[in-house]
Amino acid sequence: MFYSAIRKVFFHFDPEKIHEVTIKGLKSTGSSPLNFMYKQSVKDKPVNVMGIKFPNPVGLAAGLDKNGECIDAFAAMGFGFVEVGTVTPKPQPGNDKPRIFRIPQANAVINRMGFNNKGVDYLVDQVRAAKFKGVIGINIGKNKTTPEENAKDDYIHCMRKVYDFATYITVNISSPNTPGLRSLQYGEALDELLAALKAEQKLLSKEYDKYVPIAVKIAPDLNEDEVNSIAASLITNEIDGVIATNTTLSRDGVEGLEHGNEQGGLSGAPVKDKSTTVIKLLAKALDNKLPIIGVGGISSSDDANEKLAAGASLVQVYTGFIYQGPELVKDIVKGL
Ligand SMILES: Cc1cc2nc3c(=O)[nH]c(=O)nc-3n(C[C@H](O)[C@H](O)[C@H](O)COP(=O)(O)O)c2cc1C
Repeated sequence: MFYSAIRKVFFHFDPEKIHEVTIKGLKSTGSSPLNFMYKQSVKDKPVNVMGIKFPNPVGLAAGLDKNGECIDAFAAMGFGFVEVGTVTPKPQPGNDKPRIFRIPQANAVINRMGFNNKGVDYLVDQVRAAKFKGVIGINIGKNKTTPEENAKDDYIHCMRKVYDFATYITVNISSPNTPGLRSLQYGEALDELLAALKAEQKLLSKEYDKYVPIAVKIAPDLNEDEVNSIAASLITNEIDGVIATNTTLSRDGVEGLEHGNEQGGLSGAPVKDKSTTVIKLLAKALDNKLPIIGVGGISSSDDANEKLAAGASLVQVYTGFIYQGPELVKDIVKGL
């Protein structure tokens, strides 16, 4: 009720302006008594995944809190885990504005943000300052100006910086808004990247005397052969988890609607089935060798249960949360 009134006001304004105002508000209230505005208690439904204990299986997907500034606020909303980022080694402005578009008739969003973020050092400071002691995923990427052949260096750089502060680390190779990024999902490029990250994880786990799992985030725009080959590479390189999926390049479900033809990644209801299909293919190919985190178009507990039935062990939400607010977290957990 409360959020639907707020949403009416929010949706009159430019999406990115509202995003900025909201982040500011959540940042300044997250660990103060003012967080009563959105704080809620959510049922405990603990699960163990990647060797981590999650109080419930519903997480915030990457991209909403790119700089890790609102961790306490999202934790107060009852998320079982909060994934921050995508963060890159150096700060970068992202693409020109406007770069986020709502498509309310389809419960969807198109974005071409392009990893706008304040850089990994700033994010680490934010994570250190957070009071929340629960599960924090840190999602890492490459700077736009880093040539594709040096992408690995950016991931390793970020991994070293965040290792001691993350409960798990997500390697994002599936944003459609950084030129060339998705090519890291295929063949030798993927094997080389994952082997390098695994080697670094081994070194860091000795240095810090703790094991921080690595999850790889993939696109929904993959055919069965591509999913099978990614799964084989994840297994060979002993990666700890996979997040499926990011946004889609398809325009099914938004064609002819206002903003439906904007460039970028489409999220929300129209990506739901595509992402579930990838999860099913992954589950078959992985044969329980590593867990799947399901994300894409979840806007109810039925949608979340569908992802779990397809083979996911945890779920994440982004666009559904924009449309429905914190109550969605509570509703999903209740209905699991
Ligand atoms: C505005 C916006 C920004 C996003 N930024 C990121 C990002 O920085 N890193 C990332 O891994 N995913 C990012 N995503 C993708 C989401 O984390 C999620 O994978 C995708 O939107 C599908 O889930 P949904 O349908 O619940 O939104 C972004 C999505 C949106 C809508």
